Amino acid sequence: MPELIVTRDIDVENIDILPVYRQHGGYQALEKALKTYQPDDIVEIVKQSGLRGRGGAGFATGVKWGFLPKESPRPRYLCCNADESEPGTFKDRMLMEKNPHLLVEGVILTAYATKVHHAFIYVRGELGLAGRQVARAVREAYEAGYIGTDILGSGYDLEVTVHRGAGAYICGEESALMESLEGRRGYPRLKPPFPAVVGLYGGPTVINNAETLATIPAIVLNGADWYASFGTEKSKGTRIYCLSGHVNKPGNYELPLGTPLRVLIEECGGGVWKGKKLKAIIPGGSSTPFLMPDKLDTPLDFESIAAAGSMLGSGGIVVLDEDTCIVGAVLRMTEFYRDESCGKCTPCREGTYWLTELLERLEHGQGLERDVPLLLDICDNMLGKCFCPLGDAATMSISSSIKLFKDEYLYHIREGHCMVGPGALAAAAIAR
Ligand SMILES: Cc1cc2nc3c(=O)[nH]c(=O)nc-3n(C[C@H](O)[C@H](O)[C@H](O)COP(=O)(O)O)c2cc1C
Repeated sequence: MPELIVTRDIDVENIDILPVYRQHGGYQALEKALKTYQPDDIVEIVKQSGLRGRGGAGFATGVKWGFLPKESPRPRYLCCNADESEPGTFKDRMLMEKNPHLLVEGVILTAYATKVHHAFIYVRGELGLAGRQVARAVREAYEAGYIGTDILGSGYDLEVTVHRGAGAYICGEESALMESLEGRRGYPRLKPPFPAVVGLYGGPTVINNAETLATIPAIVLNGADWYASFGTEKSKGTRIYCLSGHVNKPGNYELPLGTPLRVLIEECGGGVWKGKKLKAIIPGGSSTPFLMPDKLDTPLDFESIAAAGSMLGSGGIVVLDEDTCIVGAVLRMTEFYRDESCGKCTPCREGTYWLTELLERLEHGQGLERDVPLLLDICDNMLGKCFCPLGDAATMSISSSIKLFKDEYLYHIREGHCMVGPGALAAAAIAR
């Protein structure tokens, strides 16, 4: 069994309560940091550890912290992005519900390292229990003197505010998250300037994913070399993979980066359900291109998944069995992006709408041959041309599925129904 880092204590009874968290080594990293390290030392340790962000883009965490200006006339802030909304991704929710103090300790350590005196934890609105757990952990940490003034007698002061979103996918995008925190509608901001320079309330801001921050205590406690000993050359450490779809044992599995996809699906997930054949895999949440079964031996790390033609993204791995209608699955995902497009820019607002219309027409047997090139044309007019990456994300399942499953699209056009799954069965019943 590989070593667990962020989920090590996830199943310990009552680990969400401060005394139990402490019995299992909780807040030792904070005590060590405040006694032994200057803030810049921690930035250096995290740089050396090779930790990369777990929110989607995989940017080096310590390097990102290093972008903060040395001096600034405005206060600096930390935002913990716990808005987890990527379809197929449900790891931050588990961390918050089951071990909220780990996240809170990560937030305090990161705030100390980046010389921040006010941190915000932005929790997705729908995650009721997670929001309550984090808020309670923050209260307990205040009462114990881990947050507040003169933390553990170190002279360091920190306020932590838990903010509940109202449930919009776009609010997970870092600049929209900050707009939302400031009380406005969650619209993305133009970049540059990047948040490290002009972020929340115009101050330099660090924004990191919840799992990223929950990894910091273990790195501070055990050191950069220890962390860097897990994973691959360029993708260090472990990460939580959210396995869902047509597998026998869906769930969250923490594995070292570089573990083959096959190990996750077959050993952890018990293989494709009902003895069915694997049809396709979405390796990093719905914003990432499909992979075919021949990519099952690809190591799950940023570089290998990119070389295989997709992205590791948020770590949400969705398994599709042989009875999945690809057009139907892509339609469902595209409906999500249409509904969640914030509407700020035309290519995304209009593009996601037209993509859905065309896919619906194809799925229901009224598609025309020209619809397939038209779908690709719309994707082409969105990719890299939208205000933020939500528009790009919407195109991934469409363009990759047309590349890999064009036959299925043409079958819908020719036969007027799905090739496999309930749509095919219904058509066969009607024909009888
Ligand atoms: C449409 C959209 C939604 C996003 N949703 C999330 C999210 O729910 N959680 C998250 O951590 N990052 C999300 N991101 C990525 C964030 O913008 C940002 O890159 C991330 O929080 C940085 O943290 P990291 O460096 O620790 O990965 C989203 C990005 C986009 C474009």
